[in-house]
Amino acid sequence: MRYKSQSVAYWYFAVAMALFGLQLVFGLLSAAKYLGPDPLLYILPFDVTKVIHTNLLIVWVLTGFMGATYWMVPDESRTELYSTRLAYIQLGLWTAMGVTAIIGYLFRYGTGNKLLEQPLPHKIVIVICMLIFLYNIGMTIKKSGRFTTTEGVLLLGLASAAVLYIPALLHYENYTVSIYYRWWTIHLWVEGVWEMIQGGFLAYLLIRLSGADREVMDKWLYVIVGLVFIAGILGTAHHYYWVGVPSYWLPIGGFFSALEPVALVGMAMYAYYAMRRSGLAHPNNLALHWTIGSAVFTLFGAGLLGFAHTFPSVNKWTHGTLITAMHGHAAFYGAYAMIIMAMITYALPSLTRGRSEDSNSLGYWAFWLQLAGMFGMTLSFATAGIGQVYLERILGLGYLDTQLKIQIHFLMLVATGSIFAVGVGLFIYDFFRLPPRLSVDRDDPALSTQAVR
Ligand code: HEM
Ligand code: HEM
Ligand SMILES: [Fe+2]
Repeated sequence: MRYKSQSVAYWYFAVAMALFGLQLVFGLLSAAKYLGPDPLLYILPFDVTKVIHTNLLIVWVLTGFMGATYWMVPDESRTELYSTRLAYIQLGLWTAMGVTAIIGYLFRYGTGNKLLEQPLPHKIVIVICMLIFLYNIGMTIKKSGRFTTTEGVLLLGLASAAVLYIPALLHYENYTVSIYYRWWTIHLWVEGVWEMIQGGFLAYLLIRLSGADREVMDKWLYVIVGLVFIAGILGTAHHYYWVGVPSYWLPIGGFFSALEPVALVGMAMYAYYAMRRSGLAHPNNLALHWTIGSAVFTLFGAGLLGFAHTFPSVNKWTHGTLITAMHGHAAFYGAYAMIIMAMITYALPSLTRGRSEDSNSLGYWAFWLQLAGMFGMTLSFATAGIGQVYLERILGLGYLDTQLKIQIHFLMLVATGSIFAVGVGLFIYDFFRLPPRLSVDRDDPALSTQAVR
């Protein structure tokens, strides 16, 4: 850690990790409900556990993005943060917002708009937190006068993510109108501006871990951002097939969303080449595993499994089935959960005391158990989804009759989800087992290896 104020990242990561653990409790609970009987049916039904599961995901991922930005910007701009006080106020407000929203969902206090269920007062707090965050980061960069391309892409992604939350503040009575604008937030987040955030972290990590040439990384980053925009914006139409809007959206959605994986192929190639050139010289090999892993798993979960159901001719059968859950898990995990764990793994030897830069076996177990578990979960959802589509949509069996016939896949989901949860448990244990470092010390092992580039 080169700058004392980078230590705020530790507290953001700590909150993110705690919420990640809680998210899995609600994921396993949701999966168990598919198997029945459900003793919690009247206290904590499926719709409540699922809302909590997905909202915890969004909150912890955004907390992770914020922490990783507070770590990266001082490093890139070579200065202390403009205000650590503001960063802590923001974290306090944000955590209170997240926790009270979850408690509210237990009592059905929410807007019912999938993934954007936060009640209006919570949404306003989210906006305030984003403004504090962007102000703090903006002032830090202004104060230093050093602004890198990597930071630029990251900041553009973060600022656009805040702007795209604005449609979520409005309420529409008409369901078609409501769902039409909902995708401006959700789709343009995950298949647009969040990919820029991921790209920014990825480039930063590759430069630091593999010694990749900054100029080369910057050029790749521009190409990837360009591709994301060309395909991603009109690709929104792959959510407009069956929601009551004009039919011209069908070919537009099919064509542009089918191009989206091109950017993801570019990202995976760029990560792989950077690693090849480095010869794995950096001692923090585990951080490189997470970094390359994120690029490759995104290509699998978002690129391949997104492509698999993006054409109207396929989506008319698979829309809203477990095929969607298959893709949602693999894509979200690869792109956003893994890149945050990459940033944490890179920063942790500096952020905690008594940790060497060399990767430990606990860390590798956490990595591989998560990967194996998530791969198994993806296959469980996929096999359940294929069965569901065939029995329910093609043969016309009732929803519940179909569910009875695909129970085995949910047993597989609970088993693989448990393996995944052990991996996450190990990661969280490894995170918390050593005390945080709150100052810049000579014994920080990273000071010699985290070369300034
Ligand atoms: C990192 C990138 C991505 C993430 C995190 C992601 C995540 C998700 C999630 C969570 C959903 C469910 C949304 C909901 O129903 O509320 C979804 C739906 C969908 N995604 Fe993605 N996605 C990504 C990239 C892609 C790409 C690149 C494609 C196409 C090539 C794609 C195609 C689709 C389609 C067609 C649906 C709608 C499924 C349905 O009709 O039920 N996604 N995605
Ligand atoms: C122990 C691990 C987990 C289990 C057992 C689990 C289980 C589930 C279940 C049963 C659902 C409801 C599916 C439905 O609507 O029928 C769900 C939804 C979802 N989960 Fe998980 N989950 C786990 C971890 C994760 C992780 C790590 C992520 C992301 C990184 C994630 C992202 C999502 C998303 C985006 C949805 C909504 C998908 C949709 O609406 O189609 N889950 N999960
Ligand atoms: Fe989409």
